[in-house]
Amino acid sequence: MNIAIIGTGYVGLVTGACFAEVGYHVICVDCDARKIEHLQHGESPIYEPGLDDLVKRNAQAGRLRFTTSTQEAVEQSEVIFIAVPTPPLPDGGVDLSYIESVAREIAAHLDGYRIVVDKSTVPVRTAEKVAETIKRYGRNPIDIDVVSNPEFLREGFAVEDLMKPDRIVIGVGSDRPVAAMKAIYAPFDAPLIVTDTNSAELIKHAANSFLALKISYANALSAICEAAHADVKAVTQGMGLDRRIGTQFLNAGLGFGGSCFPKDLSAFIKISEQLGYDFRLLKEVQQINADQMRRFVKKITHALWVLKEKRIGVLGLAFKQNTDDIRTSPSLELCRQLLREGATLRVHDPKAMEKARVVLPEATFVEDANLVAEGCDALVIATEWPEFTRVDYAQARRTMRTPILFDGRNLLDPVEMKSLGFIYHSVGR
Ligand code: UGA
Repeated sequence: MNIAIIGTGYVGLVTGACFAEVGYHVICVDCDARKIEHLQHGESPIYEPGLDDLVKRNAQAGRLRFTTSTQEAVEQSEVIFIAVPTPPLPDGGVDLSYIESVAREIAAHLDGYRIVVDKSTVPVRTAEKVAETIKRYGRNPIDIDVVSNPEFLREGFAVEDLMKPDRIVIGVGSDRPVAAMKAIYAPFDAPLIVTDTNSAELIKHAANSFLALKISYANALSAICEAAHADVKAVTQGMGLDRRIGTQFLNAGLGFGGSCFPKDLSAFIKISEQLGYDFRLLKEVQQINADQMRRFVKKITHALWVLKEKRIGVLGLAFKQNTDDIRTSPSLELCRQLLREGATLRVHDPKAMEKARVVLPEATFVEDANLVAEGCDALVIATEWPEFTRVDYAQARRTMRTPILFDGRNLLDPVEMKSLGFIYHSVGR
């Protein structure tokens, strides 16, 4: 099977590499010539565990190629996946201009029947628009099927999520592309849902919004636990072990960030509004997320009183563990607020330092996580990197001006930290 993937971001590149790994011939396209040049030299533009090896191995085996030419990819493939960005608009809507322009480009080069698969996160009814656009811009009468095949991978676990998915969703307008889509996903051995394109598109926004809702639920509980002297970790575990609820995505903390949840929530609220439904529940999910950050900053100012000239160490800059992605990172938002109040920052992240340097020029970047606390009035854990459970906190405490620890991800054991002499604050415990 020859497959084209247009767009080499997280979704496109990981999908292309995993498809090549199971034996397909894949051409990845991107309009960014520099990115393609790096990829042709076996260098992945993003940090994602396992991805470098996959790219190198499959490129060497001749199953994975990179090009800037959509024409080459369209002409040489039976199935064309679209995985281009769908960034947010200022009003919360979705900018579909990349999708539209890819649809026109595909139309310009079609020379026979193709299956065009949309993998980007898009508003409901986009597949219909893509099909209309390709047909309108084609030189000859066009024979295509447009399929919606949303992606559920998490950054930091993207290869694992793609190779062992919980489910595969295939939205179609007719039966014709179903057999080919089933064949493509046969090696991945996961339950497969075949539905209409509109439902498939809604599944993606519904799933991401529900996961964000779970996190906000845990964060709301954390406020109640603090007031009631209870432990949110025990409460969410006690709830989550009910199989109807599940323990995942109930970790209270600094709130959710990244390039998906904040954007997809706003988009789903907007889409619902356009469809005549006021999704108040999701507006509250957003509100709780914003409140969670405010409550955390308040905790810091309450303990330190004046932040001006206070030195604060921050562990974690990425929006979550296992990634160098800092887009809409709660940690960066926190850093900016602390800087605005006049604090000076010593910061560290296992993978995101290079990207963060550009946006936080005022901070001191510390290469060793064990040395971040040196001379600090407080230390904050802002990202859930497992590495931060292995910092030498006894030594860190000895080097601090005042031993105050704010654990924004509930990574550490409160009893142990208190026994080391810390004044320890976490979230909902
Ligand atoms: C999310 C979804 O989990 C994926 O299924 C989806 O495919 C992806 O968006 C997407 O739409 O492309 P991702 O944004 O990579 O994946 O990261 P998550 O692991 O979902 O974490 C998102 C945010 O929620 C992070 O800031 C994380 O720290 C936070 N989070 C997560 C919590 O605060 N508590 C939790 O219990 C879990």
